[in-house]
Amino acid sequence: MGRAKKVVLAYSGGVDTSVCIPYLKQEWGVEEVITLAADLGQGEELEPIREKALKSGASESLVVDVKDSFIKDYAFSAIQANALYENRYPLGTALARPLIAKLLVEVAQQYGADAIAHGCTGKGNDQVRFDVSTAALNPNLKILAPAREWGMSREETIAYGERFGIPAPVKKSSPYSIDKNLLGRSIEAGVLEDPAIEPPEEIYEMTKAISDTPNEPEYIEIGFTKGVPTSINGQPKNPVELIEALNLVAGNHGIGRIDMIENRLVGIKSREIYESPAMVVLINAHRDLESLTLTADVTQYKRGIEQTYTQIVYNGLWYSPLKVALDAFIQKTQERVSGTVRLKLFKGNATIVGRHSENSLYTPDLATYSSEDQFDHKAAEGFIYVWGLPTRVWSQNGK
Ligand code: ARG
Repeated sequence: MGRAKKVVLAYSGGVDTSVCIPYLKQEWGVEEVITLAADLGQGEELEPIREKALKSGASESLVVDVKDSFIKDYAFSAIQANALYENRYPLGTALARPLIAKLLVEVAQQYGADAIAHGCTGKGNDQVRFDVSTAALNPNLKILAPAREWGMSREETIAYGERFGIPAPVKKSSPYSIDKNLLGRSIEAGVLEDPAIEPPEEIYEMTKAISDTPNEPEYIEIGFTKGVPTSINGQPKNPVELIEALNLVAGNHGIGRIDMIENRLVGIKSREIYESPAMVVLINAHRDLESLTLTADVTQYKRGIEQTYTQIVYNGLWYSPLKVALDAFIQKTQERVSGTVRLKLFKGNATIVGRHSENSLYTPDLATYSSEDQFDHKAAEGFIYVWGLPTRVWSQNGK
């Protein structure tokens, strides 16, 4: 008896996920492996990937375009939450995993499979995100993670694959481990493992080096409707178009590079480089529009919610009850977050230079220092007396 009969495997076309196919069948007695490749805008040709799975022994090879849902249902909600893990990483990889898990579960149910599988190792965050998301969506499915158990080195993995007709990577494979989708690229390993070494320019694809960016600034205006970005320079854009367009403009100005030492859920510190031009610009702009349209207490309280939201998304709890409850709070706060934000893109910076909203709480008559001032200055005295009373009493009694 094998560990499972029919398995749906998350498939990327790489050596590891390809080797998973014969491994599941030969070593773990799986009868049938169905592969699933999600098109998240990683810009790779998916037809060759589809064929490679079949050649590697999959009985069925599915490719599903989920770009639209990825942006609408995952990225936009992270923007509304101003989600930056450890104040910097816009979660490009972390947001994709619960969506892939949802697809795996749906396909497993559709094909009557008894397990899902993925090619994650035991050291990363992604295994947690796949496993916990799957358990949340269908606790009856088994989860198989061959690469977590097989203990093969890179060379051994390639050699194992070759026995089953899986070609070794043609070009000398990149020393980096890269995850890529519409929201950006996550790059680790190779020389990057030394946190003291500057990342070589060759690792970047979406962002220009500052020395190559335009010498003139470029102004753009982003429109938001209820916290969701909907237009660029007055032109309505659908979700995928909007992200693609912003990746190009902002990347051209070298915006969105992040070099950080990050704390993984499994306790390991890792050095990760991100390039995420659109997300960096959108989160900045969105946070700014909130500062114009939300009251002080909601803005400040929401910061704590955002921290928690970011943490649980990073830590694989997308489908958890806490996440659902935080979503309800965040959604409620977004009702008036509509308007436009103007940014100046220049030499790696997206500087906010103006904002406008029909729902603006900024009140010129109260803010002005001119003769138009409507603020009741005398009222301040009484307010300060009451506000400072506990401190005054404390001081008077201090011996
Ligand atoms: N550290 C990031 C995360 O946990 C990205 C991991 C992506 N993998 C990679 N090969 N760089 O979300």
